[in-house]
Amino acid sequence: MEANKDILILAIESSCDETSASVVLNGKTLLSNVISSQIDIHKVFGGVVPEIASRKHIEIIDLVVDEALSEAGKSFLDIDAIAVTYAPGLIGALLVGLSYAKALAYTLKKPLIPVHHIQGHIYANFIEDKNLKPPFISLVISGGHTHIVLVEDYGKFKILGKTKDDACGEAFDKVARTIGLSYPGGPQIDKLAKEGKPIIDLPRVMLDSNDYNFSFSGLKSSVLNFVNKAKMTNTEFKKEDLCASFQQAVSDVLVYKTIKVCKDYNIKTLALAGGVSANSFLRDNIKKACEKENIYLCVPSLKLCTDNAGMIGCVGYYEYLNKNFANLDLNAYANMKIDDIV
Ligand code: KG4
Ligand code: ZN
Repeated sequence: MEANKDILILAIESSCDETSASVVLNGKTLLSNVISSQIDIHKVFGGVVPEIASRKHIEIIDLVVDEALSEAGKSFLDIDAIAVTYAPGLIGALLVGLSYAKALAYTLKKPLIPVHHIQGHIYANFIEDKNLKPPFISLVISGGHTHIVLVEDYGKFKILGKTKDDACGEAFDKVARTIGLSYPGGPQIDKLAKEGKPIIDLPRVMLDSNDYNFSFSGLKSSVLNFVNKAKMTNTEFKKEDLCASFQQAVSDVLVYKTIKVCKDYNIKTLALAGGVSANSFLRDNIKKACEKENIYLCVPSLKLCTDNAGMIGCVGYYEYLNKNFANLDLNAYANMKIDDIV
């Protein structure tokens, strides 16, 4: 599926704590991908404060969009359509990007394209891997989601497995907090684990369940119990070892279940998606498992794993080809399953 002329999408993403805008040519070439992170502001609170996130998006969105256009060497008049994340995410944060995109679409008389955030994470893989085509399995692991998705076709998804409680990234962030690391904890656990050994016994939750689902809250509680017990008994432990042990416990279950899905469905391509797929230990382990099982693995580069508008522009391109445009009464939704996209 390709257009017979160049298509330029201006994409906007504001679903959580990153304000991002990108100019995307023909779905795959990112002429710019500007990301303004609020992490330093939320750090002091130990997590994202929704009201603050919305206010910061409002303050900066104009600048971010201007920078994305100037970096790409384009003006508003060059743009064919505006793509924007409308679900899922923090509702106030989503509304900032959506309202901005609607105003642009109205003023410029350009189509408005609604994009599902998780679809964006999955499509990030198309940007760098020109050979990737559906059907494939995607392991989506972010701060808000943990899904194994069957990507049957462009825009056609089936959730085969998901978390029963905390999202994978949420577990990383909460465990990090337990041992005094700041938000977001995932990258710090990744770094410390490199200096530690996985010698602390933690459970592989739901490894033997006869489905493709996950649970992370029990693992998080086990870490908490371990830390509390160590405090009460005055037993010293190395944070590095705890990070390595936690990371190994998460990775063992993710890798086992994801490979099992690929084998059960006889699908030979796997694409990682979402912030936690930036985890170096997981990347290494899933790579080894895929090599062993002869599965083609697609892993986005680090910048495209976490939230960015480039991935939203990639979805925007395919939706543009399908003329999947929204009216200006489009609303934002905090929750929307990826297999509910119409
Ligand atoms: O996809 P993302 O940027 O935002 C959401 O849509 O949620 O994911 C953010 C999550 C956070 O929980 C963060 O701790 C986690 O991704 N993360 C990592 C790493 N980098 C980011 N988790 C483990 N290892 C990493 N290197
Ligand atoms: Zn995300």
